[in-house]
Amino acid sequence: MSEHLMKTYAPLPIAFERGEGAWLWDEDGNRYLDAIAGLGVCALGHAHPAVAKVIAEQASTLVHTSNLVRIPWQEKLADRLAGITGMDRVFFGNSGAEAVECCLKIARLAGHARGLENPAVVVMEKSFHGRTMAALSATGNRKVQAGFEPLVSGFVRAPFSDIGAIEKIAQHNRDIVAVLAEPIQGEAGVRTPQDGYLAELRRVCDDNGWLLILDEIQSGLCRTGRWFDHQHEDVRPDVLVSAKALANGLPIGACVAAGAAADLMKPGSHGSTFGGNPLLTRTACSVLDIMEAEDIAAGAATTGQKMMDAFRDRLDGDSRVKEIRGRGLMIGIELECKAGAVKDRCLEAGVLINVAQESVIRLLPPLIIDEAQAEQIVSVVCASIEALD
Ligand SMILES: Cc1ncc(COP(=O)(O)O)c(C=O)c1O
Repeated sequence: MSEHLMKTYAPLPIAFERGEGAWLWDEDGNRYLDAIAGLGVCALGHAHPAVAKVIAEQASTLVHTSNLVRIPWQEKLADRLAGITGMDRVFFGNSGAEAVECCLKIARLAGHARGLENPAVVVMEKSFHGRTMAALSATGNRKVQAGFEPLVSGFVRAPFSDIGAIEKIAQHNRDIVAVLAEPIQGEAGVRTPQDGYLAELRRVCDDNGWLLILDEIQSGLCRTGRWFDHQHEDVRPDVLVSAKALANGLPIGACVAAGAAADLMKPGSHGSTFGGNPLLTRTACSVLDIMEAEDIAAGAATTGQKMMDAFRDRLDGDSRVKEIRGRGLMIGIELECKAGAVKDRCLEAGVLINVAQESVIRLLPPLIIDEAQAEQIVSVVCASIEALD
């Protein structure tokens, strides 16, 4: 490893040279099945021919102009996202964290518009929203925050999937303007809420005049079987953040807002040099086109259910397995012990998986995996768990 990289990561001693669909090849020509998709990013798989063609075409036409001028592809993408979500306006940045910053700024504007000096946002314990200062302050994980104090103020914490706790906060705290939640907590180890939780959150937000802000950076864009996970419950948020899969690997984040929340930003309130440039937004348009044309969401739902059933069939009663959970192709298998050895065994067997919170095997494969690939992931992961002492 180069001595000149900041030591922010502890990478596996492996580097990939090329990819195709759900396959990756390392520098020695060994082939691996990717069950992480670059942390939930390459939903359409690696080197997707149609996406690659669009990137190449746009790169040789016009990459960047700045937001000083109109960007027709950005407008098309905003229209497309508005259609998919039933929401009104979009701001484009370059990452998930930047989209989260935007939604938090919208919450602050909403609070000040109501005359609150110190508007606050309810955030969830064990949540993850990114590494920039406000996003890490919103995050419910001390490890992410440690050393970076003072944190940004204005967050009130509640346990995830506990409506009673939110209702209690509503009774006592007049400064709250919004609730920020992931529909499924990804980094926390694919933690799913009780059925009906989002609808209940929507109700509490409506009762109190709060914004419902959903972080669908990991759970969105077909991963759980709908465009966005909240659509399973027919709930519409006031603000939605998306990123990861939006341009299948190019850096883009989107903050989508509805109703009054969509009109709070004014010229000069917010911005991003690269945000929404022609290369990124045209690529994202093509990703959404492919997702729609190939009904990627339905495929993710079916394949995900088959994988979940297969895991349950094979691991049911295994004392090393605490819980199998998730939706679509966002799957978590929580072990009673640390899962690092399972990850190593899977890698030796040519399957790339991820571990969250030390004991949860997290699978976020490309959404285009076929049946044989899904079976291979299940079989290698199960065998690696069964090989534990
Ligand atoms: C739910 C959620 N929010 C925010 C982020 C931050 O996104 P990024 O790493 O693109 O800044 C992530 C990244 O994993 C995430 O999973």
